[in-house]
Amino acid sequence: MSDAPRPLVIAANWKMHKTADDVDGYFEAFDREAPEPAEGIRALFFPPHPILGAVARAVANRADAAAGAQSCHWEQEGAWTGEVSPRMIAAAGASWVLVGHSERRHHFGETDETCARKLRAALAEGLSPMLCVGETLDEREAGKARAVVLSQLSNVVDELSRAEYRRLAIAYEPVWAIGTGRTAEPEDAQEMHAAIRGALAQIASPELAAGIPVLYGGSVKPGNAADLLGRADIDGALVGGASLDPGDFAAILAAGHATRR
Ligand code: PGA
Repeated sequence: MSDAPRPLVIAANWKMHKTADDVDGYFEAFDREAPEPAEGIRALFFPPHPILGAVARAVANRADAAAGAQSCHWEQEGAWTGEVSPRMIAAAGASWVLVGHSERRHHFGETDETCARKLRAALAEGLSPMLCVGETLDEREAGKARAVVLSQLSNVVDELSRAEYRRLAIAYEPVWAIGTGRTAEPEDAQEMHAAIRGALAQIASPELAAGIPVLYGGSVKPGNAADLLGRADIDGALVGGASLDPGDFAAILAAGHATRR
């Protein structure tokens, strides 16, 4: 096994897919096809809220796996119709939450400011937040990709405690690569991941930055996972479409295991 300072994290974002009827069958197939859990490698599942508890129970026996929510509110309770709080997510048996996924930013008006509040509320309840950052195609073509991504990062994750930085993960997801079948070139992704790590070193410290997993997301599939996951600063994948199929997700996890042997 490698002695990488941070875990490899392979995460499934089911978005608005699957119901309670799908959970058992999914995990039976996943358990059949997935590699045995290994030290330093995590498999995360982000299902829709109504089946978060069922997914948390389904993965409870797998040493490498945990469940998380796709979003949360910044208050723990109150008059916020339709919202779900970090406390509710933790009580459902989940330990992670996505913050600022681009679909939340673009369709539901989430801003760096609301993301910062959500991230702090998640940390306050003991959850591990995964902050999603990424540029649009227009921003990339205008040469602004790095500036956009680094400001999304610094606007949200500054001034956390050392213990909080140790619970943080980042997902770099170029918006033009999400659900489009277009993936960033592994070298381009590696370059952005290295820039993110450099920024984290300044915001937190080099030592803390070395421990924060930075995942890539956007059309990751069994066929392109190995190339992406083999790069020095790509510490995992946030997988949408391909995670809906347990065999494909298990294959991406296996590609991750192969890079750590
Ligand atoms: P995709 O989604 O793998 O379907 O591109 C990734 C994501 O949005 O997290």
